[in-house]
Amino acid sequence: MRDEFQRFLLEYQFGLREVETKLGILRDEFLQMHDYNPIEHVSSRVKTADSLVEKVIRKGVEPSFDAIRAAITDIAGIRVTTSFTKDAYRLFDLLTAQDDITIRAVKDYIAEPKDNGYKSLHVIVEVPVFLSTGRVAVAVEVQFRTIAMDFWASLEHKIYYKYAGVVPDGLLTELKDAADSAALLDARMERLHGQLHGPGAGPIRAV
Ligand code: GTP
Ligand code: MG
Repeated sequence: MRDEFQRFLLEYQFGLREVETKLGILRDEFLQMHDYNPIEHVSSRVKTADSLVEKVIRKGVEPSFDAIRAAITDIAGIRVTTSFTKDAYRLFDLLTAQDDITIRAVKDYIAEPKDNGYKSLHVIVEVPVFLSTGRVAVAVEVQFRTIAMDFWASLEHKIYYKYAGVVPDGLLTELKDAADSAALLDARMERLHGQLHGPGAGPIRAV
């Protein structure tokens, strides 16, 4: 059982690797072709066994591998941090347009931020992984966000945990306010960047 569980998680490790490779190729190609790096930072993780078990119980998922595969789509997660909002969308487009990638779900919290101010573009993709036993489709959650959105989200996450989910009203208002400031900064930086490079230059444009 333990071995089987490790093997189950290993598939997600491989799925991450496939998507990381795709993102790395896009970044290197952009650097070479346009002298422009659309990606500031990529981080990834596979859920720990403990955290997965906790989520399976919390969501009332039947404890079988098939049921978990179907119901829990963030076992493999990648976060892509960009300088500009446009880059987040462009990378999303370039990744999801690849013909071995299937989109399972999209949540655009950049276009429609959450009430607390959270902004990010989320997609669950399926990527094929080739094992000795054949091909499996692995779900990977990819979050695209700017540095400013990421800065905000990390702080909000820490505050949320510190207060065990019951954050005082005043702090919630301040967080929302900080999210608005981050969004203004994003817009401003993007405008400045546009002035520096002219409307035809990066953030990445269709080629
Ligand atoms: P989970 O079941 O909790 O994973 O979320 P979901 O099915 O509602 O999906 P959603 O796309 O809303 O959130 C997925 C992930 O996005 C979370 O695990 C977090 O990493 C991140 N996220 C979503 N909302 C927030 C938020 O309000 N604050 C922060 N800091 N992160 C968030
Ligand atoms: Mg999650």
